[in-house]
Amino acid sequence: MKIAVCPGSFDPITSGHLDIIERATFLYDKIIVAVAKNTLKKPLFSVEERMKFAEEAVKNFKGVEVKLFDCLLVEFAQKNQAQVIVRGLRAITDFEHEFQMAQLNRKLDRNIETIFMMASPEYGYLSSSAVKEIAKFNGQIEGLVPKEVEISLRRLFGK
Ligand code: PNS
Repeated sequence: MKIAVCPGSFDPITSGHLDIIERATFLYDKIIVAVAKNTLKKPLFSVEERMKFAEEAVKNFKGVEVKLFDCLLVEFAQKNQAQVIVRGLRAITDFEHEFQMAQLNRKLDRNIETIFMMASPEYGYLSSSAVKEIAKFNGQIEGLVPKEVEISLRRLFGK
């Protein structure tokens, strides 16, 4: 059984993340969406909220489960018998950071392979940070995030 981990901060999950997760379901038997409890950035949403948004958003995808992780990514993959880490790539600006993470993860466990999927063109510009910024200034975020996330962001930043 091929198990892949789709890790991230998911603060919050966006349509771009969902595009990658759904496409990964066509390649692997099981996908674990791994929501990082601690991220390098200060999250807007608690890990419980980020998990809830992710669970709601993937509920109709086949073979996908959402789990919290609070350790090294490779340790999480090992514990969950995952052989693959799936990451999305948007522009070339993502590459350096992703390349470094992939190399470090390979150094930590060479049996776990990182696979990159190119973002679909319609999501190539999309990021959680951009969505939060737009929401903060009451801009249009419909379609960029799942409905539940949109409602929460409006509630947080709405006038
Ligand atoms: O959505 P993000 O913020 O780009 O996700 C980054 C994440 C959470 C996948 C990355 O920071 C991570 O794997 N953190 C766990 C700690 C770890 O394993 N670090 C070593 C690899 S750089």
